[in-house]
Amino acid sequence: GAPVDVPALVIGTGYGGSVAALRLALAGHRVTMLEMGQEWNRPGHDGRVFARMTEPDERSMWLRRRTAMPISHLTGVPLDRPIKLGAGVLDRVDFAAMGVYCGVGVGGGSLVNGGMAVRPRRDYLAEVMPGLPLDDFFARHLPLAERELGVNHVTEALLEASPYYQYARLGRDTAQASGRRVVPVPNVYDFAYLEQEAAGQAPGSATANEVIFGNNHGKRDLTKTYLARARATGLVTVQAATRASGIERAGDAFVVRAEMLTADGTVSGTVVYRAPRVFLAAGSLGTTELLLRSRAAGGLTGLSEELGFGWGPNGNTMLGRANHVWQPTGARQSTIPVLGIDNWAYATGQDRVFAEIAPFPAGIDTYLSLYLAITASASRARLSWDATAGRMILDWTRAHAAASVTAVRRTFDAINAKQGSTYRVDLFGSDRTFSDHFTYHPLGGCVLGTVTDRAGRVRGQGGLYIVDGSLAPGSLGVNPFLTITALAEQIMETVLAEDLRS
Ligand code: FDA
Repeated sequence: GAPVDVPALVIGTGYGGSVAALRLALAGHRVTMLEMGQEWNRPGHDGRVFARMTEPDERSMWLRRRTAMPISHLTGVPLDRPIKLGAGVLDRVDFAAMGVYCGVGVGGGSLVNGGMAVRPRRDYLAEVMPGLPLDDFFARHLPLAERELGVNHVTEALLEASPYYQYARLGRDTAQASGRRVVPVPNVYDFAYLEQEAAGQAPGSATANEVIFGNNHGKRDLTKTYLARARATGLVTVQAATRASGIERAGDAFVVRAEMLTADGTVSGTVVYRAPRVFLAAGSLGTTELLLRSRAAGGLTGLSEELGFGWGPNGNTMLGRANHVWQPTGARQSTIPVLGIDNWAYATGQDRVFAEIAPFPAGIDTYLSLYLAITASASRARLSWDATAGRMILDWTRAHAAASVTAVRRTFDAINAKQGSTYRVDLFGSDRTFSDHFTYHPLGGCVLGTVTDRAGRVRGQGGLYIVDGSLAPGSLGVNPFLTITALAEQIMETVLAEDLRS
């Protein structure tokens, strides 16, 4: 059919897309957002919008007939189970040697993530993103992002006394016993609500095993913050279950083709939009794939040769330690982490590690201490288009993760030595103690200042912008969404002032 003309199109409704939509709308521009996942606002058969981590179903994973859990095994028993195929909220994209988890739905990664909103280190940003105007970024854009996202801190009562944080206290005490520094980790989960649910006065979410398949309560995901504000302007339309499949330059505008999806992911129709301004916010994988695909199809020419480069998993490395029987981690565990082990004050180069003390809510005491470490790994890989297979590939190998594993080993060998404890070798299948094969934090593919200029403008494509995690150079040293949000704020400020002055 004839293209639908819209003034501004935003592809993706995660952090970058939500910031773009809000700032465009507040400046008076009409915005259409395309989102391949569902609008998560209708209760399912059990009265809940999202399934619990421990009770997966067709709401849990994106187009899979079997779960693909990060922790795949426990004491020799595989944990994944068959589920009904559905357009669920958590995707795992499997490349040759790397599985990438992404949130799918209106709200993107904010629906599934752990809510940790950590400021990046200024010296590290200067190292990995030279040219970023850091004074402004730290003085204005980060605090703005924190306010809009509703970042808050765990209360003393929860951290020091709640049974739900026993695992965090043990993780802290065992780390400090080896001279490791432990720091608080801010979050967007409402800790006042967490206190209520822990006291049995409100429906449980963090205390009821909800996280990677969505939180039914407590978490200030983007649908409650940026997207709510954007929609309240009356200028923003969100088309859910609509997946952009190609972009073509057409004179002064772009023609964007999209597929409409049913609840089991079948393509039920297509729709074509035409817009003079398009903001790409489909995440590191989604945005890079759209550009690679559109270039291969001939729709976009003259894109930077650096498209697809600079990809990394933010050094993500998960591991478990086995505690002694006198060191219980608790049968009840909050899914929202609040503490991290941080060696950045005394380590250098690729040995720098920031490890969140993670929950493992199993309903019984497992004596397992779980950690998700983020290292300053310098390994980068390349996303490219495989024309024969008609899909995107990633040349990451297991060797790329070796430096991360070495760094993490140094940190946790010391804790094990002091405690007389050992690693859990049963969590990721038989051939690995450290998870060097998946990430929650895909970053890069369209690195700021290479594929785009400093303000996210795609080079050689006036009117096309990138505002998401694909801009970050494979590593940020901390959990990424706060940085991505602030970066999108900085970009939108410049774009609105310089390109969209009416
Ligand atoms: P994001 O991935 O949020 O959004 C992209 C959106 O685009 C998605 O909704 C997707 O469905 C959509 N899309 C993709 N392709 C499309 C297409 N072709 N057409 C239409 N729509 C398309 N970070 C952090 O800082 N603290 C934390 O605690 C955690 N924890 C965590 C846990 C888990 C389980 C995961 C998977 C991830 C985290 N993260 C995290 C990472 C964080 O969620 C992630 O970095 C951000 O969501 C990335 O934001 P973006 O705006 O780049 O994309």
